[in-house]
Amino acid sequence: MIKVDVQQIKQRFGIIGNNPALNRAIDVALQVAPTDLSVLITGESGVGKETFPQIIHQNSPRKHAQYIAVNCGAIPEGTIDSELFGHEKGSFTGALSERKGYFEVADGGTIFLDEVGELPTPTQARLLRVLETGEFIRVGSSKVLKTNVRIVAATNVNLVQAVGQGKFREDLFYRLSTVPIQIPPLRDRGEDIFLLFRKFAGDCAEKYRMPSIRLDEEARQLLLSYRWPGNVRELKNITERISVIEENRDITADVLRVYLPDLNMEKYPVLVKQDAEQKIFNSEREILYQVLFDMKKDVNELKKLVHDIMGGKMPMAVADETSYSHSIHTPHPVHPVPSIQEAEAVEEEETLSLEEVEKEMIRKALEKHNGRRKNAAADLKISERTLYRKIKEYNLE
Ligand SMILES: Nc1ncnc2c1ncn2[C@@H]1O[C@H](COP(=O)(O)OP(=O)(O)OP(=O)(O)O)[C@@H](O)[C@H]1O
Ligand SMILES: [Mg+2]
Repeated sequence: MIKVDVQQIKQRFGIIGNNPALNRAIDVALQVAPTDLSVLITGESGVGKETFPQIIHQNSPRKHAQYIAVNCGAIPEGTIDSELFGHEKGSFTGALSERKGYFEVADGGTIFLDEVGELPTPTQARLLRVLETGEFIRVGSSKVLKTNVRIVAATNVNLVQAVGQGKFREDLFYRLSTVPIQIPPLRDRGEDIFLLFRKFAGDCAEKYRMPSIRLDEEARQLLLSYRWPGNVRELKNITERISVIEENRDITADVLRVYLPDLNMEKYPVLVKQDAEQKIFNSEREILYQVLFDMKKDVNELKKLVHDIMGGKMPMAVADETSYSHSIHTPHPVHPVPSIQEAEAVEEEETLSLEEVEKEMIRKALEKHNGRRKNAAADLKISERTLYRKIKEYNLE
C-alpha cells in the first residue's frame, strides 16, 4: 500500500530511483505531510531536496492555500525581516507603503525556507517566535499579528556544526527539525545512478533529436565508483555535456573520465588544475576583449553622434582612433552617421551584450564548480547573495 504511494509520488514529481534510503525519505515526507509538524530536509548539494517541501505541501490539507519558497541565502540581510514579516509605511527609507510579509500572505499554507542556515541571527529569533506562538510583528510596528503557517526548511550545511559555532540558534534548530528527513548522496544510491543517467541522456537526445549516448561496461563501473560531489545536479550536467559534445554515441571510460573533474583533480592535481585555470583564463580574456571592443565601438558611435548634432562643425580629429596619436590634420574616412534612433538601438544592443557577458561569466563559473554556488561566487569575487540574485535574474538555474 505505502509502496504504491511512494511510486505514485515519484511519478508525479519526476523523482528517479529506487534506493531504499530515498524511498524511505519519500515515505516519511508522505507520513508527515498531513500534520503541522516542522520538517527539516538535509542532504548534500544537488541531492534533490527541492521537491520534498512540495511533496509535503501537496499532500497536506494546506494544499489549496499558498506555498511560498524562500531562499534565505538570496535575500539581503537588510530586507529579510521585511520580506518575511512585512513592514509598515515609513518604517525605513524606501518603505513608501505598507507591505505584507510571506508569513502573512501564506496564512493557512506552507513556507519553504531553503538554505535556512543562512538566516541572520535577529531573523532567527523572529522565526522562533512565529513557530512557537504563531505571533509576529511587522517591521516598524508594535502590533502583534497572528498567522498559521507550516514550515519546511532545507539546508546543505551541517546545522549541528553551525549550532556548535554559535551561528545558528540551538532552540530554533530543535524547533525546525521536529521531523528530520535526510536525502542520501548519489554515491550511496547504487544502481540508481544508471536510471538517472539513462533518463538525463534520453531527455537530452529527445531535446536535440539525436540518438541517446550509451556507456560501455567499464564506463558504467566508473560512473558507479565516482564520488559525485555535486550529486544528481552534477550527473545531469555531465550527461548533458557529453550528449552534446561527443559525436560517438558509445561512451568509453576514457571518454567519461575527461568529464569528471574531481577524478582528474585527484589523479593529476597540478596539471589539471593549471589546465582548467588556463582555460578559464583564456575564455575570460576573450570576454574582456569583447567588452573592450564593444566599448570602443560605443565611444566611436557617440563621437559620430556628437559630430552629427554639431552639424558637422566639430573637427572629427579623434573620430578615427587609429589616427589619434599621429595627426589631427589627416583627412578621415567618412563614416555613415547614425540617426538618433539608430544610436539608441546601438545603445540597447550594447547594454544587452554586457548582460550577455556577465551571464556567460556566471554560467562558466557555475559550470567550473559543478553548480556549487559558494565556490562559483568566490571565483567571481561576488557575494553568494549577489550570485543568487543574478542566477534568478538571468534564469540560469
Ligand atoms: N531523484 C531524482 N530524479 C530526477 N532528478 C533529480 C533527482 N534528484 C535531483 N534531481 C535533479 O537534480 C537537480 C538538483 O536538485 P535540487 O535542486 O533539488 O538539489 P538540492 O538538494 O536542492 O541542492 P542545493 O543544496 O545545492 O540547493 C535538479 O535539476 C533536480 O531536478
Ligand atoms: Mg536547493
